[in-house]
Amino acid sequence: MISDRLFTIREEGDAVAILDQSLLPHQVATRHLNTLADAAHAIRAMLVRGAPLIGVTAAYGVALALKDGAGDKALRQSCDTLAATRPTAVNLHWALTRMQRCLLAVPVAQRRAAAWTEARAIAAEDAAANRRIGAHGLVLIENIARRPASLMTHCNAGWLATAAWGTALAPMYCAREAGLPLHVYVSETRPRNQGLLTAWELHEARIPHTLIADNAAGLLLREGKVDMVIVGADRIAANGDTANKVGTYLKALAAADCGVPFYVAAPLSTIDRDCPDGAHIPIEARDGGELRHVGGLDRKGKPATVAIAPDSLAVANPAFDVTPARLISGIVTERGVCAPGQLHTLFGNGP
Ligand code: MRU
Repeated sequence: MISDRLFTIREEGDAVAILDQSLLPHQVATRHLNTLADAAHAIRAMLVRGAPLIGVTAAYGVALALKDGAGDKALRQSCDTLAATRPTAVNLHWALTRMQRCLLAVPVAQRRAAAWTEARAIAAEDAAANRRIGAHGLVLIENIARRPASLMTHCNAGWLATAAWGTALAPMYCAREAGLPLHVYVSETRPRNQGLLTAWELHEARIPHTLIADNAAGLLLREGKVDMVIVGADRIAANGDTANKVGTYLKALAAADCGVPFYVAAPLSTIDRDCPDGAHIPIEARDGGELRHVGGLDRKGKPATVAIAPDSLAVANPAFDVTPARLISGIVTERGVCAPGQLHTLFGNGP
């Protein structure tokens, strides 16, 4: 939780309160999830979003589901329902696997309470991991010679996308705490414009930033205006190939061409050791309406959606792309900064 007003997810009685991100950055409003269906809808419709937060919400979704029965079958069905909501963010599957493993080992009568405890632990661990990502990423910013350091990010990998702190934005928050001057170029991130969420977060944190059209990134990199690109991740394959919001790959290509370091920040829960490489990461194909329509505020400040293309226009809307490990300078996790080819060293010999 960031403050009483600004939080992504928290328990309220036997419900779960979320910040409804579909209304941001225009409106800060809370919604309550009371059932498995509410949780599944919140993830699918992107009221909550960002890989770590999707995982935490799924964990709480299991806790909500067990209100109606906590037998093995009900548990498995609730996990199947939640797993089907979005395909790319591996934190969703990671959290559900962890919930199932924990709860199947507990007598049915104690499962409801255990589910809340485990979901709470997943949320707390995510916040703690992201805080450590911030500390490790801060060192990268400290090593930049220019002041203010000039960063670029894509999509939203801030506290909105997690239980707290964020991933790619956590080092920026740590830099701000340390009094280190920085400026951030924030790309719009068409079609869902998660860059506006990042701009809103940075505004709230009083970190100087500039919104750019996605296609302006290459020019700014070529002009030497960016010292480091840092983005989040939705799934990192065992070989370091990284799926993140569509458009990330183009930034990585341009950064490599311009000699600008390109970092990925993510907790260990985003690393899919069962996925050998990027070609095996499922890429979510979203509805074409997201490209044909744009939402915002009308002249009276009321939420409105306008069509910018006819419904008959064929569109393709892949939500993520994969950046090959060779374009990534390092992966910042809670255990430090690691070369993408060395991820196996983060896990020791454990399961
Ligand atoms: O489709 P979304 O908004 O859920 O997108 C996922 C993301 O937030 C990003 O890809 C992000 O950069 C990685 S998750 C911290």
